[in-house]
Amino acid sequence: METTTTPARTARRPQAAAATTGPRWQRWAKVAVFVAAWYPLARIVFFGVTDRLGANPIEFITRSTGLWTLVFLCITLAVTPLRRLTGWNALLRFRRMLGLYAFFYAALHFTTYIWFDKWFDVAAMLKDVGKRPFITVGFAAFVLLVPLAATSTKAMVRKLGRRWQSLHRLIYAIGVLAILHFWWMKAGKHDLVLPKIYGAIMLALLGWRLAVWLMARIKARQAS
Ligand code: HEM
Repeated sequence: METTTTPARTARRPQAAAATTGPRWQRWAKVAVFVAAWYPLARIVFFGVTDRLGANPIEFITRSTGLWTLVFLCITLAVTPLRRLTGWNALLRFRRMLGLYAFFYAALHFTTYIWFDKWFDVAAMLKDVGKRPFITVGFAAFVLLVPLAATSTKAMVRKLGRRWQSLHRLIYAIGVLAILHFWWMKAGKHDLVLPKIYGAIMLALLGWRLAVWLMARIKARQAS
């Protein structure tokens, strides 16, 4: 259990103070992020009980959960560049939770589609995929998210070692597939404003990683 550290006690034990102040605010920040991440679901529930989901509630829920999956994917991918640019290593402590929320909203998005939209009717789903192939791309992104969520525990990180990092590079493919899914869907509606904005964000996040990787290779070549 956490103990309170008074000024008199910390003056005598400076290392103890340094060790406790950091983790304590980080714990509170983690709780704040954990609670804030429920906002999208709370909003849907609130709109549901106050009868404000619109004429097509299933469409509202599918779109809302889809968009929030993308938002959490972008935030998760932004953690590493932000940490590098600011030197704020504590940001890494939030990455796993944010990634798991991306998976959570993707699972809600997928469940809304196969359950409440299609009632597990495989024939209806296949017919829909034939008409709207962007669904297959979203499905591919979701399938790739599953092993990432399943291996997100500390025990799995330890068990997989270097293979964990290789496996988690799937997040780049997921980012590309998510944008393709969104872009393709909206292209059919001639409404590409949001896909262009999210596409630019994803391009910046993935482009930054590519630039870092290329620079590391160039440096390694020069050193050898
Ligand atoms: C990482 C996975 C996924 C992401 C990031 C994602 C993201 C999105 C986004 C951003 C939208 C548009 C929301 C809007 O209109 O504002 C959307 C729509 C849609 N997604 Fe996904 N999606 C994913 C996976 C899936 C899966 C697995 C399925 C079903 C198998 C699916 C089916 C749909 C459908 C049917 C729509 C269109 C809803 C409509 O026309 O009203 N998505 N998705």
